[in-house]
Amino acid sequence: MTLPISNAVITAIGSYVPEKVLTNADLEAIVDTSDEWIVQRTGIRERRIAAESQYSSDLSILAVRDMARRYNVQLTDIDYIIVATSTPDTFVPSVASRVQAEFGMQGCGTADLQAACAGFTAALQMANGLLLSGIYKKVLVIGTETLSKATDYTDRTTCILFGDGAGAFLLEAASGSKSDIIAASSNTDGSGGHLLYRSSLSPSIGGYDIIATSNIVQNGREVYRWAISEVSKGINELMKKSGTSAAQINWFAPHNANQRIIDALCDKTGFHLEQALSSIAKYGNTSAASIPLAIDDAVRDGRIAAGDTILLYGFGGGLTQSGILLRWSI
Ligand code: UT7
Repeated sequence: MTLPISNAVITAIGSYVPEKVLTNADLEAIVDTSDEWIVQRTGIRERRIAAESQYSSDLSILAVRDMARRYNVQLTDIDYIIVATSTPDTFVPSVASRVQAEFGMQGCGTADLQAACAGFTAALQMANGLLLSGIYKKVLVIGTETLSKATDYTDRTTCILFGDGAGAFLLEAASGSKSDIIAASSNTDGSGGHLLYRSSLSPSIGGYDIIATSNIVQNGREVYRWAISEVSKGINELMKKSGTSAAQINWFAPHNANQRIIDALCDKTGFHLEQALSSIAKYGNTSAASIPLAIDDAVRDGRIAAGDTILLYGFGGGLTQSGILLRWSI
């Protein structure tokens, strides 16, 4: 394994999911589907749905409160907040600015990052760069989604997939050679943008007319094929780059899009299914929130221990891929 690429360490994690549960049986009453089809094709059994008045910033704030309750961290001296989301409360101001205001962090910069389901890992890479450069000492990274507010509940091909939630990591600059970040990689194929999108201003993507509803639209079959073929290559390249293999890494934290995709990615990259962190059965696909939610579940139940290595790999709309290999030290 190569030497760590920075001096960034993860010092805290937190998460939040809304109380309301939407089960497959509930969906059977809304669209022409069945629990059997959903479980067999996706592995999803239920997902959480934000209250009408709850937006991505509200979920973020609750995830940060959870983090502050569990770890001995100061929030007021955070230098920068990056929020990964495809479902911001508003385009302007950013979700990150709303989080800053809630906690009254002074001298703190903020920005939202949009890289769809690769957003959380992309944000971790940005945070790593900010810490490595020495510009900042403490960066908060949040992945948050209220996908239920951008879902067409008459479209059975998408409404069975998505759920809401938020997860947060606190990253800090460490002195000396200590570092949790070992390797990183990214790879976007923008020519596939029309295969998975959430429209805003433009009526087309790369010459393809799109449905301008601001709901998420995807060609599930094509995205599925791309995920199995191209994402598996990206994961193998990241391991090659870091001089490591699935057998040397403790945990695999892929974006939780579909259990069948996770199983196929394990098969093509050498990870055992038991190494894959999946909470898709209870949360569904929560896009930028799915990786921190799956990791926090494993931290809470004691599966992840200090010293473990984890390969995080986000992929989705864009079409984006973003991976990061890290050592868990809390
Ligand atoms: O998070 C970002 C990345 N996103 C992904 O990675 C998602 C990738 N795609 C997928 O996970 C899968 O493509 C889906 C779960 C979305 C769909 O599964 P699939 O096995 O690819 O199904 P399909 O689209 O090939 O459809 C198979 C059949 C179709 O019927 P016909 O044409 O064979 O008669 C669909 O109309 O299943 C039908 N179908 C459904 N049936 C019952 C589609 N959705 C449903 C449904 N319930 N909810």
